[in-house]
Amino acid sequence: MKIRAAVLEEFGAPLAVQEVELEEPRRGEALVRLVACGVCHTDLYTASGADPSGYAPAVLGHEGAGVVERVGEGVESVAPGDHVVTLFSPQCRECIHCRDERTNLCLAIREQQNVGLLPDGTTRFAYPGGEPIRHFMGTSTFAEYTVMPEIALAKVPPEAPLDRACLFACGLSTGLGAALNTAKVRPGSTCVVFGAGMVGLGAVAGCRLQGAERIVAVDLSEDRLELARGQGATETLVGGPDAVERILELTDGFGADYTFEATGNVAVMRQAVESARMGWGLATMCGVAGKGETLDVVPRYLITGRRVAGSSFGGVKGRDGVPRVVERWLAGELDVDPFVSHTLTLDEVNRGFELMEAQDGIRSVITFS
Ligand SMILES: NC(=O)c1ccc[n+]([C@@H]2O[C@H](COP(=O)([O-])OP(=O)(O)OC[C@H]3O[C@@H](n4cnc5c(N)ncnc54)[C@H](O)[C@@H]3O)[C@@H](O)[C@H]2O)c1
Ligand SMILES: [Zn+2]
Ligand SMILES: [Zn+2]
Repeated sequence: MKIRAAVLEEFGAPLAVQEVELEEPRRGEALVRLVACGVCHTDLYTASGADPSGYAPAVLGHEGAGVVERVGEGVESVAPGDHVVTLFSPQCRECIHCRDERTNLCLAIREQQNVGLLPDGTTRFAYPGGEPIRHFMGTSTFAEYTVMPEIALAKVPPEAPLDRACLFACGLSTGLGAALNTAKVRPGSTCVVFGAGMVGLGAVAGCRLQGAERIVAVDLSEDRLELARGQGATETLVGGPDAVERILELTDGFGADYTFEATGNVAVMRQAVESARMGWGLATMCGVAGKGETLDVVPRYLITGRRVAGSSFGGVKGRDGVPRVVERWLAGELDVDPFVSHTLTLDEVNRGFELMEAQDGIRSVITFS
């Protein structure tokens, strides 16, 4: 079928929105009609050429939500009409990682996904002349329709508005999950969240859901700190070189039970380690650092009982975990509306990148009519 999609053709150039061919879903795959898709940093990171593993041409986009239109042979977990959130981090439920509660890093389709192919080693997207266009993060949701493996689709209740549910496909689940799954914040604790973008605000909300008593949000922007208050931050702090000192002052010299880093800046990651409490402080890293950058940790911080964890997609096993947090949103436990700052059309996708670079708002969401 002919559909419109935003194609990365040349690194550093705007995405080219155009008509492309999309093949029918094959075995284990589903055709999804996108209803909404958030614009996330990873899309821009790849489009800019900064990501060393990037490739082109490819249909970008990974923060998608939509409706299943048709399914290929053998598909049992989703059916036409189902509302779904797309998962760049799939859950096959069979691999060694899926069967272990300690990780969400499913091994099933990683290799093919990393090079932009579906699990059978081919693509469903092509230029009208037949030249293949690769998939991106196994999702390719900057498109009116996409084809994805069923193990990468989380079924959500039909009453969940999809122009908000799409945020659970990446940024929001990443932050929430860091607090719920990776850190497993205990009730009554003191938490510090560095960065109040989509991921950090999700972490603030996650700490609140876990019953944290104090949640200190740290960011450079007063507007974002205000949003953090709306998500449950009890205190806010303007970030900078003295952030660790300030946090120690706020915590009787000890530091926080849990710290979260959601900036992608390795100097802030170090602050997250150093502002965690001796004895049991846990510093969870969500940010993606630049190529070749390293995190500096003075080993004494570890010997005296601090721990460092990393969190990919908030440790969420997508097909099980995304519906659970969506349910909590529908039950009124989460306020998602403040995260959607701009609504765009697919043709305006490059504007979404510009808004992100200007740090104008938290998320731009593309809606398809
Ligand atoms: N682990 C994952 O699976 C995953 C998923 C999505 C995004 N990410 C990464 O998470 C990070 C955050 O994503 P986002 O969408 O929230 O980004 P964002 O750019 O919207 O937010 C980052 C925030 O950090 C703040 N900041 C910058 N320097 C700071 C400092 N010195 N002290 C305090 N705050 C500072 C900025 O003001 C901004 O509000 C990025 O690195 C992104 O690539 C990771
Ligand atoms: Zn993302
Ligand atoms: Zn798996």
